[in-house]
Amino acid sequence: MSSASITADPAFVVGPVRRRTFGAFVEHLGRCVYTGIHDPDHPSADEDGFRHDVIDLTRELGVSTVRYPGGNFVSGYRWEDGVGPVSERPARVDLAWHSTDPNLVGVDEFMRWATKAGVEPMMAVNLGTRGVQEALDLLEYCNVPGGTELSDRRRANGAEEPHRIRMWCLGNEMDGPWQIGHKTAEEYARLAAETARAMRMMDPDLELVVCGSSGSKMPTFGAWEQTVLTEAYEHVDYISAHAYYWEQDGDLGSFLASAVDMDRFIDAVSATADGVRAARKDSRSIHISFDEWNVWYQNRAESRPPSGDDWPVAPVLLEDRYNVADAVVVGNLLISLLRHTDRVHAASLAQLVNVIAPIMTEPGGRVWKQTIFHPFALTSQFAKGDVLRLAIESPMVDTARFGEVTALDAVATYDDESGDLVILATNRSATDELTLNVDLRGFSGLRLVEAITLSNPDHTWSATADDDSSVAPRDNGTARVVDQHAGVELPPVSWTMLRLTRATH
Ligand code: AHR
Repeated sequence: MSSASITADPAFVVGPVRRRTFGAFVEHLGRCVYTGIHDPDHPSADEDGFRHDVIDLTRELGVSTVRYPGGNFVSGYRWEDGVGPVSERPARVDLAWHSTDPNLVGVDEFMRWATKAGVEPMMAVNLGTRGVQEALDLLEYCNVPGGTELSDRRRANGAEEPHRIRMWCLGNEMDGPWQIGHKTAEEYARLAAETARAMRMMDPDLELVVCGSSGSKMPTFGAWEQTVLTEAYEHVDYISAHAYYWEQDGDLGSFLASAVDMDRFIDAVSATADGVRAARKDSRSIHISFDEWNVWYQNRAESRPPSGDDWPVAPVLLEDRYNVADAVVVGNLLISLLRHTDRVHAASLAQLVNVIAPIMTEPGGRVWKQTIFHPFALTSQFAKGDVLRLAIESPMVDTARFGEVTALDAVATYDDESGDLVILATNRSATDELTLNVDLRGFSGLRLVEAITLSNPDHTWSATADDDSSVAPRDNGTARVVDQHAGVELPPVSWTMLRLTRATH
C-alpha cells in the first residue's frame, strides 16, 4: 500500500470559503424546469406548481445561487413571453434545444421558486438575438421599485417589491458557433461592454459576468478572454468559465485526473485577466464565475435534441446517469474550485434537476439523488471559514491525457470561530489504496468528528429511483487522530471528508 501526506497550517490561507462556490443552474432545457422544479400535478406541488420534494432536496444539496434561464436557451429568449397572466402567454419554439417552451414559468415564477428554495438568483440576459435595450427592459422590470411602465407591469403581475437581482450574466457562451447569435470576440466585446455600462447606469450595484470561453479547447480560448476583457474590463466584475470535458471514455485514469484540467483552465483564465489588468495599469482584479461545470456524456443519445417537425415540450434531454467514479470526479472538481477561492468567486454546477443533474424526478412521481449529489452536499455543508493552502506529497499516477499527476488531491478549510477543520481528499488511483497522513502543525488539541468516504468496489454503480442510497458516503472506520497527526485509508477511486474540531467543542 502506498502513502501520501499533507501538511495543514492555519497560517496558510488562500481566501475565504465563498458560499457562491456552491451555485447551480436551472435552464429551460429538457425536464429541468417543466416536470423538474415545476410540476403542478405532483402531490407535493404548491399553489405556484413547484414541487416541494425538489425544493427540499435543493436545500439539502446546499445550493447558494441558481443561474437562470440559460444556457443556450437564453440566446433566443424573449423574457416578456414569460410574464403576465399564464393563460395569455405564447408557446414558442426554442431553437437551442429544438423544443417548445409553453412559458408557464418566467422570471416572476422563478423568483418565487428561488425564495422558496432559499437561493440567490443569477440572471442571464439574451445577447444572442437581442441587445442593450432588451437587457435594460428586463433589468427595469426586475429591479426598479415602481413608477415606470415596466416596473409597474411587474407590480401588476403580483410582484410588488422589486426582485433586486444583483448577479447578471451578459449572455451565454457567445464564443460558441452553436450559440444563437454567435459573435466574434470583437462583436461580443463591444456589445457586452455597452450592455454592462447601460445596466450599471440603471443599477450601479450590479455584479456583472462577461462571457469567457465555453471551454479551454475552444480555438479562440485565450484570445477571446483577452479581447473581451480589454474592451469590457472596467464595466464587469467576473469573466465566466464553462467546462464539460470530463467523461469516462474507456480511460479511467485520465478521467479521475479531470480536476487537473480544471486547475489549468482556472490558472490560464486568471493569467489572461491579469495580463489585461497589467496592460491597463488597473488595481482591480477580475474574478472567475465558473458558472457551468460538471461531468457530461455529450455523445450519448440522451444529449441529442429532437429534430424535424418534432418540437416537444420538456423532452428527456441530457439525463445522464452518474456512477461512483463520476461522483469522485465531481468531488475533486469541487476541491479544485475551493483551492482557487482567491480567484473563483462564484460557480454553478450544471445543472440542478434532471439535466446533467444531482437531483432527478419522475413526472408526477418520485424524486431521487444521483451519486454526484453527495460530495456536493457534504462540501457545501461543511466547508467553512478559510481555505488553507496545503503541502501535498503523493505518489504519482501516469495519465494519457494529463501526464503524471498526484494520486492524492486534497484541500482543507478551517473555521477559526468554531475550531472546525475539514479535509476533503480524493484518491485518483484506479487501482491502489492510499494511506493519507496529515501533519497538523499549527493546530493543537484537535479531535476527530467523523470521516466519511464515497467509494464502491464497483465504481460503475449508479443510483436509480429504486435505490439511491446503497452507495452513499459511509463512515470510514480507519480514521484516527493522535496529537498533531491524523490518518485515514483511502480506497482507490474514492472521495473522503475528514472532519476534526478543537477538543473543547
Ligand atoms: O448545460 C447545458 C448547455 O451547455 C448549456 O445550455 C450551454 O450553455 C452549455 O453549452
